[in-house]
Amino acid sequence: MPNWIQTITNSRFWKSFFRHGWPDNPLDRSLVMSSNIFFHLHPVKVSRKSLRATYSFGLGVIALICFGLLSLTGLLLMFYYTPTIERAYTYILTLQTQVPFGQLLRNMHRWAAHLMVIVVVLHLARVFYTGAYKPPREFNWVIGVILLLLTLAASFTGYLLPWDQLAFWAITVGTSVAGYAPGAGPTLRIFLLGGTEVGQEALTRFYALHVMLVPMGILLLTSVHLWRVRKDGGLAANQSDAEDR
Ligand code: HEM
Repeated sequence: MPNWIQTITNSRFWKSFFRHGWPDNPLDRSLVMSSNIFFHLHPVKVSRKSLRATYSFGLGVIALICFGLLSLTGLLLMFYYTPTIERAYTYILTLQTQVPFGQLLRNMHRWAAHLMVIVVVLHLARVFYTGAYKPPREFNWVIGVILLLLTLAASFTGYLLPWDQLAFWAITVGTSVAGYAPGAGPTLRIFLLGGTEVGQEALTRFYALHVMLVPMGILLLTSVHLWRVRKDGGLAANQSDAEDR
């Protein structure tokens, strides 16, 4: 290693930032990974196979980016929307025609939601086809299934909020179908609608579920999901192809 690099890495200034020497040996390379807030999400050693773009297609990460974008655009949409049956539709029209970039904001939220549903399903398929659901990842598979259901729940509850004809009848049909589910069906229908038909109570409940309960659930379970990926030794390719490291 050149002398000037040695001087820098031995200085107190460098050591106060980086708690390791120059990464030209296995120990310092692993310290780079474990002592950095961004790198520590990855295992110290990863296989070449798991780094190939075609292994995971980054689908989990894309789902995460969609969720971030939805949270941001959703928060901005809340500035212009109130969940009352008299005014919700007017607010949406005003947002699209009077608010600068309002139409763009609404479309970004809508398209990110469609994309997230597609991407999460593709992510599930990728995990299945690479056999990444097998032990010790079976727990994370179950967390994933709940995340898929929550993603669908976010889409469904968001659909009612514009309070247009499409929304009204889609939710009328959707909640009627839910009502026919064996056992909990009728109770679920009453829980969602706050009564027997789609009205103000339903809009209030769908709004609360859409902006608070479902996103909080996704946030919490995504944290557990990513923590589990890390604790299970990174992507499954790390174990299945150890000789490839
Ligand atoms: C909100 C939805 C979801 C998000 C944000 C998410 C995020 C992620 C991320 C970032 C990874 C690591 C990198 C990658 O594979 O791209 C991952 C891995 C994984 N996910 Fe998801 N995921 C979601 C839904 C699901 C679903 C629906 C399933 C299956 C039912 C699932 C099962 C798994 C498993 C088993 C792994 C480990 C894969 C391996 O070791 O190769 N996830 N997820």
